[in-house]
Amino acid sequence: MTEFVFNAKKRSLQNNVKVILTSNSSVNTEFCKEETVKELKNAVKEAKFDGSYGKCVSVYNGKNRVFLVGTGAKPTAAEIQELGGKIYGWISGFSKVAVFVQPLPKIKADSSDVACNLAFGMELGGYRFDKYFTTKNSDDYPQLEQVEFFASDGKLNNQDYDNLRAVANAVRYARDLCNEPANYLTPEVFADDIKRLEYLGLKVDILEEKQIRANGMNMLLSVAQGSHNAPRVAVIRWEGTPESDAPKLGLVGKGVTFDSGGISLKPSSGMGDMKGDMTGAAVVVATLKAAALCKLKQNIIGIVGLVENMPSGHATRPGDIVTSTSGRTVEVINTDAEGRLVLGDCLWYLQEKYGAEVIIDVATLTGSTMRTFGSEYAGLFCNTDGMAADLCEIGEMSGEKVWRLPMNKEYDKLINSDIADMKNCGPANAGGITAACFLQRFVKEENAWAHLDIAGVDRDDKGHYLTPKGATGWGVRLLTKFVGCW
Ligand code: BES
Ligand code: MN
Ligand code: ZN
Repeated sequence: MTEFVFNAKKRSLQNNVKVILTSNSSVNTEFCKEETVKELKNAVKEAKFDGSYGKCVSVYNGKNRVFLVGTGAKPTAAEIQELGGKIYGWISGFSKVAVFVQPLPKIKADSSDVACNLAFGMELGGYRFDKYFTTKNSDDYPQLEQVEFFASDGKLNNQDYDNLRAVANAVRYARDLCNEPANYLTPEVFADDIKRLEYLGLKVDILEEKQIRANGMNMLLSVAQGSHNAPRVAVIRWEGTPESDAPKLGLVGKGVTFDSGGISLKPSSGMGDMKGDMTGAAVVVATLKAAALCKLKQNIIGIVGLVENMPSGHATRPGDIVTSTSGRTVEVINTDAEGRLVLGDCLWYLQEKYGAEVIIDVATLTGSTMRTFGSEYAGLFCNTDGMAADLCEIGEMSGEKVWRLPMNKEYDKLINSDIADMKNCGPANAGGITAACFLQRFVKEENAWAHLDIAGVDRDDKGHYLTPKGATGWGVRLLTKFVGCW
């Protein structure tokens, strides 16, 4: 793990590898030795380097190596983070690197903002899931032990990074959970992991099968019943301001540790990706972890339904009817539309038992939404315009973008059943929307609710600057920003 140090006073010129940030073509002479300044100035001229975003010139004189990196005049925080991820790729082969930043007055970012967002990007970009390699000799393996930040205005200190450090920790935690294969991360193991977060001051209640049954969460149980691995429901509470009478905020996550489709079995190609069908749960748990690490002055309740969806002689059959904890009956048309069954019971329980009034659920819910947005946006469904607008704006700021899709009565009608109160899926088209309509039937009208369908953004098969190949932990940045961690 790389250590990030923010140094206010000492302006060390000792380090052999330096990164200097600039928004223009001038070379700041106080950051390196005279001869290097000369070389840099020549390189700038030769490469026509103008400090625009993401551009870089570098010089190397056999001993010192300097990267001059452009920020452009008006980068957003998300762009600075991404730049951090990009720089990480250039420096990860060195063990110690010094980074010199300057304030960016045009976006009112002081040097501390710039340094913290860069470090955050480096932490996300430097993530690796390597626990299952028995030898770590890959060329890709990062060597970077320490990055030390300096600024000409001397305004850096380690505490400034506390909140973003917590968020980075949470993103990495979510990715670890999502990359974990389903033979290791069963519902029980996942629940034990969540329970361990109590050391941070979180309150965690784990419901086992008996209690889940006593609560009447039969939709959730119908998903789990084909599997040898018993289900769990975890309720995680952060009470940062116990006396507050603000509307109660609740987060709900889909935690299907493996989704084979059940009796409506999925095709084999790509089925392994369904180990990540618990990403919504990981993101909710990680957001609560971040809130605790930040000692956030707010109350949040999280609930995650942890189940494995498998075919067997015990499994739910297409056509079965189950009674949800809300009392309404559901005809299970397709056992592969399992996420909504898990979420429906969790949503209802969260409102009934804990009185949640503002609710966000996160789920890898439909292939339909994945085909709509690819890996650029997550699908947003919301019953409250103001909340939808907030989430869209926070999405842009956090780098995890959402786009709202419509829901209305015509779509909702499509999930009426001939022999029960509803069925668990509609016709082939508009699958993301009818899934959202199903969830909405378990949300009380007076409550503000948003559903994030993150199928498509939950993993990255190519890898980007902030998200190496594999699980992205998508949603932790958005939700931690929504709750006010950063
Ligand atoms: N977990 C899947 C959705 C999914 C697909 C997530 C691809 C990530 C990548 C979900 O449980 C599912 O199977 N949905 C079905 C619903 C259908 C049977 C109504 C789908 O979208 O095909
Ligand atoms: Mn499914
Ligand atoms: Zn699923």
